[in-house]
Amino acid sequence: MKPMMMAAAVTLATWTLTAVAEPSIFKGADLKLGAQLLAEHKCSTCHTRRVGGDGSAIYKPGGRISTPAFLRGMVEQCNTELNLGMFPEDVTAVAAVLNRDHYKFK
Ligand code: HEC
Repeated sequence: MKPMMMAAAVTLATWTLTAVAEPSIFKGADLKLGAQLLAEHKCSTCHTRRVGGDGSAIYKPGGRISTPAFLRGMVEQCNTELNLGMFPEDVTAVAAVLNRDHYKFK
């Protein structure tokens, strides 16, 4: 991407962030459950193998995951691929915790 376009994209992202108060898809999500599921399914164990540290470097705010819905979709994909058997509200809870701690979509 050219520097000018990059700057435009960043500006646009900032506008989007300030315009909306809270990702509505995470409203009412059970954050306690989400944190518990993240630990239970050892999400960070595998991520650590890939990126080191506590594994949280795998979560890249400003990377290809650019919307709350995309984030939730990524967790859903892990759920399916890894055969974790999480219910839709579990997936939402996990994504909401990742959003609170890492992605911080507003
Ligand atoms: C078997 C290993 C493994 C497990 C278990 C695993 N992941 Fe991942 N995860 C990966 C790898 C590898 C990537 C990086 C994929 C890439 O960059 O293309 C990734 C990437 C991600 C991303 C995207 C990060 C970003 O910003 O691009 C999210 C979100 C994520 N994982 C969530 C989870 C959650 C939630 C769990 C547990 C329920 C989990 N993962 C369990 C291997 C794993």
